Amino acid sequence: MSQPKKLFIKTYGCQMNVYDSERMAEAMGGQGYVQTDTADDADMILLNTCHIREKAAEKVYSELGRFRPLKEAKPDLKIGVAGCVAQAEGAEIVARQPLVDIVVGPQSYHRLPELEAKAASGAKALDTEFPEEDKFNHLARRPKAARGPTAFLTVQEGCDKFCAFCVVPYTRGAEVSRPADQVLREARDLVERGVKEITLLGQNVNAYHGHDGGLAGLIWALNDVDGLERIRFTTSHPNDMDDALIDAHGTCEKLMPYLHLPVQSGSDRILKRMNRKHSAESYIRLIERIRAARPDILISGDFIVGFPEETDQDFADTMALIRTVNYGQAFSFKYSTRPGTPAAERVQVDEAAKDARLQELQALLKDQQRTVQNAMVGKTVHVLFEKPGRETGQMVGKSEYLHAVHVTASDVLPGDLRPVLIVASNSNSLTGELVT
Ligand code: SAH
Ligand code: SF4
Ligand code: F3S
Repeated sequence: MSQPKKLFIKTYGCQMNVYDSERMAEAMGGQGYVQTDTADDADMILLNTCHIREKAAEKVYSELGRFRPLKEAKPDLKIGVAGCVAQAEGAEIVARQPLVDIVVGPQSYHRLPELEAKAASGAKALDTEFPEEDKFNHLARRPKAARGPTAFLTVQEGCDKFCAFCVVPYTRGAEVSRPADQVLREARDLVERGVKEITLLGQNVNAYHGHDGGLAGLIWALNDVDGLERIRFTTSHPNDMDDALIDAHGTCEKLMPYLHLPVQSGSDRILKRMNRKHSAESYIRLIERIRAARPDILISGDFIVGFPEETDQDFADTMALIRTVNYGQAFSFKYSTRPGTPAAERVQVDEAAKDARLQELQALLKDQQRTVQNAMVGKTVHVLFEKPGRETGQMVGKSEYLHAVHVTASDVLPGDLRPVLIVASNSNSLTGELVT
């Protein structure tokens, strides 16, 4: 038998790219490729890229440059760029970096095997169409191999919201939802392979409409899947948090008490300029309703500082919103100008002001996260164990609030879901003891 060919995939960006990388590896598995974790011995290298901020996009080119010696040593090596930079820049990528053989967008990677064959014949293989057909109908079912206890499952793609700063509606296209029966089948397949927790993914996941009951309807259907213990979803837009979804947070046992609900800014003036279509006040009221349904829910958010025309007062409004909401987790970014988006044309905030604001905002968010995490000490949480920790005899898993929890115990296996008493709060994780 001939040696299997080796595929190295490097993934940037959001969880949806993590999911796509798995599916691309599976698609190439059908072509005799096995995954390798180093580029050095690969027959094919795929960078699954992110275009959300300038830094993320530029990283791709420096990474590609590093593959030159590999390509020189092995002329058959195929180098592909997938994901959102591929979608945004298309043929420009090959023009800028001729080492690249394949460019494939996030909606057309089911065609990767054909593109690889084309590249093998010596031609450049580009596909950044938004195809008529649904890639999910063209991908094989998930392979039978056993898996770890957690998995991502993309249920919705694309975005119709057009926030003024964001490239996603251009790189991922219009909002599309996968039919619920297709999602449920994939979920059952994953559970059969050992998965206990599924995180439903979408750029705008709570706009999901592949089930009559929307995302809440899908969550309730998943709640009935035997063997599935936990359900999460990300990322949500405040305007798509409907009553049924809020209610599910209080009533659906498998739905975890953690919600990532980005607000971006606390200034109504800026929110309007961002085309967010909600106010700071409506967001705060929404959080109150969610907390009324599930008082212990951990709220997570995204923030952009230095959006064009943001003043000190606008920034102060964001700080005030953060103080009101009290976040248990947060991601914050300096505004990055993205080509083709409306905000790119506007008066930019200077870099020093952006830096100062980011520091101040992150200090507050860090403080809140720390306080929320420290408050877990003395509580009993439920931990889904994933893997051994760094120290011998230690296992690590996640609580329902998505905190990493370390436990020293000899009888715990990956996939076990156990009650744990939290005894200490460390810099990035909690320490606990099994409750027996
Ligand atoms: N669909 C999700 C996430 C989109 S991208 C949502 O609507 O929340 C993830 C985060 O990146 C965004 O929430 C935003 O905070 C940040 N982001 C997007 N575009 C950006 C830009 N041009 N500059 C800086 N941060 C950006
Ligand atoms: Fe981007 Fe806004 Fe869509 Fe989120 S909702 S993906 S920030 S355009
Ligand atoms: Fe990046 Fe595309 Fe995700 S731009 S954040 S990889 S949707």
